[in-house]
Amino acid sequence: MKTITVIGTGYVGLVGGAGLSDFGNTVICCDIDTEKIEMLNNGEIPIYEPGLEEVLARNIKSGRLSFSTDLDLAIRQSDVIFIAVGTPQGENGEADISQVISVARQIGKNLRSYKLICTKSTVPIGTGQKVIDVIKSINNNIEFDYVSNPEFLREGAAVKDFLWPDRVVIGAENERAFEVMKDVYRPLYINETPIVLTNIATAETIKYASNAFLALKISYINEIANLCEKIEGDIHQVARAMGLDGRISSKFLHPGPGYGGSCFPKDTNALVTMADKQGINISTVKAAISANDLQKQGMVNKLRKLVGGSFASKRIAVLGLSFKPQTDDIRDSAAIIMIEELLKGGADIRAYDPIAMDSMKKSFPDLHYCAGWQPAVQDADAVVIMTEWNEFRGLDLEDLGKRLSKKIILDTRNIYRPVELKRLGFSYENVGRMFVV
Ligand SMILES: NC(=O)c1ccc[n+]([C@@H]2O[C@H](COP(=O)([O-])OP(=O)(O)OC[C@H]3O[C@@H](n4cnc5c(N)ncnc54)[C@H](O)[C@@H]3O)[C@@H](O)[C@H]2O)c1
Repeated sequence: MKTITVIGTGYVGLVGGAGLSDFGNTVICCDIDTEKIEMLNNGEIPIYEPGLEEVLARNIKSGRLSFSTDLDLAIRQSDVIFIAVGTPQGENGEADISQVISVARQIGKNLRSYKLICTKSTVPIGTGQKVIDVIKSINNNIEFDYVSNPEFLREGAAVKDFLWPDRVVIGAENERAFEVMKDVYRPLYINETPIVLTNIATAETIKYASNAFLALKISYINEIANLCEKIEGDIHQVARAMGLDGRISSKFLHPGPGYGGSCFPKDTNALVTMADKQGINISTVKAAISANDLQKQGMVNKLRKLVGGSFASKRIAVLGLSFKPQTDDIRDSAAIIMIEELLKGGADIRAYDPIAMDSMKKSFPDLHYCAGWQPAVQDADAVVIMTEWNEFRGLDLEDLGKRLSKKIILDTRNIYRPVELKRLGFSYENVGRMFVV
């Protein structure tokens, strides 16, 4: 097995580093964020990810996993270097690869012996070549190989996705690089996980093509849900019947307030921008992006209508802040648009999320955050469900009704049964469901 440095200890780097050490490799997770590394060295976990604590603990105990801010030393000590830094949306929709390039420079400066450099960050097609050029421009004497190994884990199920992936994609240009990666992922080879071996540009493309397709599916079902509202159809029955068709599959057919998160919004934008530059108009993904923007705005309009046309001086309980359950990640969460519009409209917001409030406080420090859903909804004029945490699925609707000043709910995740809310006398909106179902 190999000695590996993972550069960037975020959602991907930390889970990936823990997973790679679980596979038997010796892993040093590095970050420039000293606070993060300090936390990890003190046994604390800087992100919320179910199951991560256990994997971290057993690999730290075995001595195979450590954390450091000393990138130079870690690079020199390792056979394989994974790049897992952020690639946020930059100008004009393009992915900003400055963190990747800065890491490439640091690798170039510390190259003393053969290494395999592997990018896990989602990077625009052609970035692999840029990384190679940067390293060579600094150090042209020492041999290295480059691999693109995009990551497909989902936040909230990241540990399982990393340890038991549907597939592993490895893009490389020579046999030696493939052999090193086979060693890194040996347990997956043994249990016959599908491994796609391809060239670098294809591997980079697979990541964007996959994410954009899922985003497209979500936008599609959201638009069908909007149609259902007009024709008294029920989107859950439509989606269920569609999903029973093996060609379609039931995954990503759940309507909601529009996709968010750290990947779909930026990756769809990056893909269409990249393709435009190549003279290819990916109109389907462009349509998915605008449908998604409209969906998020549509939720705001629904809530405004429910509360009588204006948010001014209305007390609104916002339940759920993360972009999906089981994560503390709020990047591009639909809750952000909702909160921004509520603030613009003069609402008095009471926000609650079981896990993501600390993340949201970094962007909205002055919101009124509550310690539970009960204080959040107390005397509110309406409640809006933005994330389908189990805690909200299971709440006592009768109790909720008694606490609210007006029995108004916007359920953007369709977690409540319309018939039940009707029975309890709520004014209610959802996404594409009939009141009687
Ligand atoms: N989050 C996901 O669900 C997911 C899934 C698949 C792929 N990805 C991709 O993986 C990449 C990382 O995503 P993430 O969500 O883990 O990001 P993140 O923001 O959680 O973590 C990135 C980390 O990199 C660190 N970093 C930045 N510059 C550095 C440097 N020069 N040296 C060392 N560390 C540095 C940051 O401090 C941060 O801790 C992105 O390209 C993303 O698109 C993310």
